[in-house]
Amino acid sequence: MSSQKVTVSVIKADVGSYPGHGTVHPQQIEVAKTLLEKARKDGAIVDFFVTHAGDDLEFIMTHRRGENDKRVHQLAWDTFKEITDKVSKPLKLYGAGQDLLAEAFSGNVKGMGPGVAELEFEERRSDPVLVFMADKTEPGAWNLPLFRIFGDPFNTAGLIIDPALHDGFTFEILDVMEDQSIKIKCPDETYDLLALIGTSSRYVISKIYRNDGMPAAAASTSRLSLIAGRYVGKDDPVCIVRAQHGLPAVGEVLEPFAFPHLVAGWMRGSHLGPLMPVSMNDVQNRVTRFDGPPRVVGAGFQVSDAKLIGPADLFGDPAYDRTRQVANEITDYMRRHGPFMPHRLGPEEMEYTTLPEVLEKLKTRFKK
Ligand code: 13P
Ligand code: 13P
Ligand code: MG
Ligand code: MG
Repeated sequence: MSSQKVTVSVIKADVGSYPGHGTVHPQQIEVAKTLLEKARKDGAIVDFFVTHAGDDLEFIMTHRRGENDKRVHQLAWDTFKEITDKVSKPLKLYGAGQDLLAEAFSGNVKGMGPGVAELEFEERRSDPVLVFMADKTEPGAWNLPLFRIFGDPFNTAGLIIDPALHDGFTFEILDVMEDQSIKIKCPDETYDLLALIGTSSRYVISKIYRNDGMPAAAASTSRLSLIAGRYVGKDDPVCIVRAQHGLPAVGEVLEPFAFPHLVAGWMRGSHLGPLMPVSMNDVQNRVTRFDGPPRVVGAGFQVSDAKLIGPADLFGDPAYDRTRQVANEITDYMRRHGPFMPHRLGPEEMEYTTLPEVLEKLKTRFKK
């Protein structure tokens, strides 16, 4: 446990929703707030904000215990459990406790179902921290925007203009299939980085550091299907990005989301669709059409003596109306493919869905 630094921990899970995989229930938020407030008074955490992205419940917490802290992880786990028992199950919400894959807590929620992004850092004189939360997609969805923020001078003017950014950033990449990681230094190794992270189903960005070592971003990397060996919903990732003063400006961090790039997820976790940036308000922050389209909400804070000042609703801005319109047009276009690739994901991705059961039945009917 380190005392000077602050840690931002975003821990999330889908513990049930309504109707179907649409959105969380207000009672889930209420119970979460009550339990986290109690933990704050007990000194486990310094501050928290409870929100959601579609059907995923999100705990944004600050504390002084460092990353992978047992007490903080247990707090999140126990809270998700209690919400499942006290709210999701009695109301028969859909997929009650869906993401709680393990029987009992074993020290760290990683690998147990919930998604985690954590970043420990020395608080600057002023420290803007942006939290992105997505629904109906997977961790690889962050690859493109994170690359553009920290590696692409056509997005981030500061990489050229600001001497503090000019030396670039190092990306830590996790190979989710082999459970091994690699660090790639940009701009020197930009093409190597893109050679990996273009395969967004396998190589996902987990951390980003400025080349002098300053922690800049963290993303969740869990692949539920690889943990469970079967389809259990997508992993609906979260990510934390620090901004300004030697890091990309807030507007540079938000800019890549103006392009609704195609991500895997959507209906039954089996389709490609555009990532639509939406407001945190109830009207936009729930999935409808074909259980989607995949969406991302953004919450902007200032971290001040480990307290969360905010949030600002980052995509609740008319500047993103056109992005949403383009995403709707892409939605029309993609949907017209029905069950055909590339709208429906390829066989490798479909391995963890129920499609193999259907194909199994046809096996004996093939003739040479
Ligand atoms: P900082 O150097 O404080 O990040 O300011 C840059 C800026 O104003 C970007 O619009
Ligand atoms: P979630 O992963 O958000 O629970 O969605 C699952 C699904 O099957 C949507 O159609
Ligand atoms: Mg769900
Ligand atoms: Mg979800």
